[in-house]
Amino acid sequence: MTRKHRIIQAGPLSGSPTANARLAEAYDVVELWKFDDRAKALAEHAKGVTALVTSATTGANAELINAMPDLKAICSWGVGYETIDVAAAHARGVQVSNTPEVLTDCVADLAWGLLIAGARRMGEGERFVRADKWGQVHGNIRLGTRVSGKKLGIVGLGRIGEAIARRGHGFDMQVRYHNRRARNDVPYGYEASLVELARWADFLVVATVGGPSTRHLVNREVLEALGPDGLIVNIARGPVIDETALVAALEAGKLGCAALDVFEHEPKVPEELKRSENAVLLPHIGSATVETRLEMENLVMENLKAFFETGKVITPVE
Ligand code: 8YV
Repeated sequence: MTRKHRIIQAGPLSGSPTANARLAEAYDVVELWKFDDRAKALAEHAKGVTALVTSATTGANAELINAMPDLKAICSWGVGYETIDVAAAHARGVQVSNTPEVLTDCVADLAWGLLIAGARRMGEGERFVRADKWGQVHGNIRLGTRVSGKKLGIVGLGRIGEAIARRGHGFDMQVRYHNRRARNDVPYGYEASLVELARWADFLVVATVGGPSTRHLVNREVLEALGPDGLIVNIARGPVIDETALVAALEAGKLGCAALDVFEHEPKVPEELKRSENAVLLPHIGSATVETRLEMENLVMENLKAFFETGKVITPVE
């Protein structure tokens, strides 16, 4: 019997029911998160280990990368990689892989779920029924806003942004987007100014990458341009929106509604948002379906296998 390759796993892949067991079955896994003294564990176990498994949540900083002298590949579970120091990895010739494509549809579906839930006040209606407040035929929560035929603005037209935009056709919406650069391969209008996009849109959906390049891209000015009847959806990363400005805009009635799957300091959610009937709040579940989580897990396994067999991961982060 051939010996299993040893790998280091930085954190538990607890959002994926069979990932930990499959990794343990195929590899000799050092479960780093179980050690109290991580530096000591790395000093003892990292030598000779060429692959690190992590996730978008756990990430891998330069300290971890540099504590693994023989590291050649980081295979991450999740599409976002702002928590991985890719520059530090690449500087040492370490490949990084993520799990793109497989979660695009589920995240786009959830963006639409949030959009409709916010516009049609579904959270408020749900709470109303559960609290036994429904005393007349049509209920009496506040009126929502029509979804079909409205103007949809997408912040970040990457793979997920495009999948959200495509779904807009089914709702007879006009779609425009803001990116760093205009794309010439899409049928949607480009807005170089995010404030102008927000002013034009009824609904603004944030679908950019996270990290320093997009931190607080959606600021007070953008939120106020979206306005008292406007709705913002975020399925990307919390810090893309200035959360303090968001709370202030909602409380002052300068923004209509926020429907959020991600937050600036997860899992902390500002109390003001929890109290607001103009906010829909989800616990970062964009990719959380049985099908997608299995495909993410499969892709991590495939990347690891390809790395050990060919020296190259199959979905590299460039
Ligand atoms: C994950 C995500 O739930 O893929 C991503 O980047 O945000 C989600 O799919 C999670 O962040 C992975 O740790």
